[in-house]
Amino acid sequence: MAIRHFLTLMDLEKGELHAIVQRAIALKNSPALHEDSLKNKTLAMIFEKASTRTRVAFEVAMNQLGGSSMFLSSNDTQLGRGEPLEDTARVLSSMVDFVAIRTFDHSRLELFAKHSRVPVINSLSDDFHPCQLLADMQTYFENRGDIKGKSVAWVGDGHNMCQSYINAAEQFDFELAIACPEGFEPDAWLLERSSSRVRLVRDPKEAVRNADLIATDVWASMGHEEERARRLRLFADYQINAELLSLAKSDALFMHCLPAHRGEEVTAEVLDAPGSVVWDEAENRLHTKKALLEFLCA
Ligand code: CP
Ligand code: NVA
Repeated sequence: MAIRHFLTLMDLEKGELHAIVQRAIALKNSPALHEDSLKNKTLAMIFEKASTRTRVAFEVAMNQLGGSSMFLSSNDTQLGRGEPLEDTARVLSSMVDFVAIRTFDHSRLELFAKHSRVPVINSLSDDFHPCQLLADMQTYFENRGDIKGKSVAWVGDGHNMCQSYINAAEQFDFELAIACPEGFEPDAWLLERSSSRVRLVRDPKEAVRNADLIATDVWASMGHEEERARRLRLFADYQINAELLSLAKSDALFMHCLPAHRGEEVTAEVLDAPGSVVWDEAENRLHTKKALLEFLCA
């Protein structure tokens, strides 16, 4: 059978994604379901960027399902001394059962996957963060039921998280309004492909009006550190604050993949308000990791 990779949400069928979310909910609610489903399995994690949630969720998920994991920073492996990614893919995939990669250029994930004999999981690239969307979808389902047909507003940078929200709109059937400053749009081909579900607006108020869910992310992602001061100026009108949120539905949820910068993309008041489900999202990284790993090794 062909190896299943998880480089974007589009690598899985809608039904498969929904099943992973439901399995994650079941695993969260019934720890007895753990049953060593990944006994003797090993996950290798190559992380070329910092991480708290993703790394810990993977390690704990493997541990709680009876398997093990190893964290490989490029500084400590031969990758850091120039061994080609293709060779690393061949070698690692002859020993481990999955490889999770966090990197900059998405093409590095695709290259690794091409030469890997085991599933490769995108743990964040400059283009996509599909694992985070599994947790976000679980969080929505748990708090409000099915997200199908709901109105979601993305306010902020049209970067990796926003682009994964576009894919999620396709796969989970919701409407997405994106408000971002000029020059910070998601890729045009993604917007075009999803034009029946996704619209680009400039005004955050327009995006948020009557929304069921509002999501944002940092204004300067990993790799954008040098642009930070400029971005803070350009994104200043895109902050999620109580005034903006008052335009959304009264029971709207607020999501943020974290880490958050209080006072920049979101106010402390919104982050800590009852409609904010950011801590659920973070915890659900663990449960969705378990469900994803089980799916990929089935
Ligand atoms: N949301 C997220 O991916 O967090 P980390 O960068 O801490 O893994
Ligand atoms: N957009 C952020 C997400 C971090 C989880 C980044 O790429 O740094």
